[in-house]
Amino acid sequence: MTTTSALDPDRFMHAVWGTTEFDSSSPTHEVDDAAPAMFTWDYEKGARPQLSRLYEKAKGAQWNAETDLPWDTDVDPEALAGIATAGFRALTDRLPEGSPLQRWSDADWVRFGVETQRFAISQFLHGEQGALLVTAKIVESVPWIDAKFYGATQVMDEARHVEVFAKYLDTKLEGAYPINNDLRSLLDALMADERWDLSYLGMQIMVEGLALAAFGLMRTITPDPLLEQLLRYVMADEARHVAFGVVSLAEVYDGLTAAEIADRQAFAFATAEALQGRLRQQEVFERLGVDHPETLELLANNPMQQMYQQMLFSKIVPNLKKIGLLDAGDGWLRQRFGELGILHFETAADTSADYEEFALTASP
Ligand SMILES: [Fe+2]
Ligand SMILES: [Fe+2]
Repeated sequence: MTTTSALDPDRFMHAVWGTTEFDSSSPTHEVDDAAPAMFTWDYEKGARPQLSRLYEKAKGAQWNAETDLPWDTDVDPEALAGIATAGFRALTDRLPEGSPLQRWSDADWVRFGVETQRFAISQFLHGEQGALLVTAKIVESVPWIDAKFYGATQVMDEARHVEVFAKYLDTKLEGAYPINNDLRSLLDALMADERWDLSYLGMQIMVEGLALAAFGLMRTITPDPLLEQLLRYVMADEARHVAFGVVSLAEVYDGLTAAEIADRQAFAFATAEALQGRLRQQEVFERLGVDHPETLELLANNPMQQMYQQMLFSKIVPNLKKIGLLDAGDGWLRQRFGELGILHFETAADTSADYEEFALTASP
């Protein structure tokens, strides 16, 4: 591993990562926010034309979570289950000795599929609340009026996303799983850091870039028309949010020192690792009583799962390239992403104008 003093993936998390107290039995969770709130007296609208255009787009793209989605659709969670577990079931003849899955009936596999869906959508829900809070923090801390205006529309979007995922879990599945610990630590760190550009980088580029890819993959395979349409609507907003991050950070990172950029590269890499943590869905296996390390290892490394994990970075990598972090310095981040097998996404379309493609008026 290439090392320079600035490139320690843990450094940005210094006082935050994994240190916030968390009581899973409490209905609330408190994080200290070290970022100063910033007033600006420069009210000139349109000084940053790209942000101003995004703001105008967002004003015209609002939808209503209660009335624009077909909530009367009958959802059969078991019909969703087969797709969620196809990659795992393909491994049944390779199960290690003593694996509890050797005794699983079809009903057990269906249960596993239902829980896998619930877990994934639950983490979408918690991530959306993270976006709601982090974007409110951006509105507070960013010094540009055009970004405060745009960010205010994103806060509304994220409230709507929390609303739809919570309602889907509550009325169509069997309620939500608690937040995954890696995801929570990441959201805590984003809330606590005093640097406003890290809110953007962690949320708009990393978390929302991953969400855009994950929603897109789930949308293409789900047989549920309600979930398909829900994800389609959320994606139209998320593409705009990622564009907000790309446009803003391209300007900010143009003016940072090499050491400051190296810090952001380390941050992006640590965030990527944290986002992969929840994909092991340890919580689902715990709930189903699967406590067999060799089995968990086999399932975690199944080819479909690995391909899925890589696909989740299809938006993140080109966007990091667009804002200059992939290649800055000695190419440290490029090398790390090469090791993760996700570098080939650098030539995928970046998201600076993806929101046009995802706009609700542009396609069904
Ligand atoms: Fe969202
Ligand atoms: Fe978002």
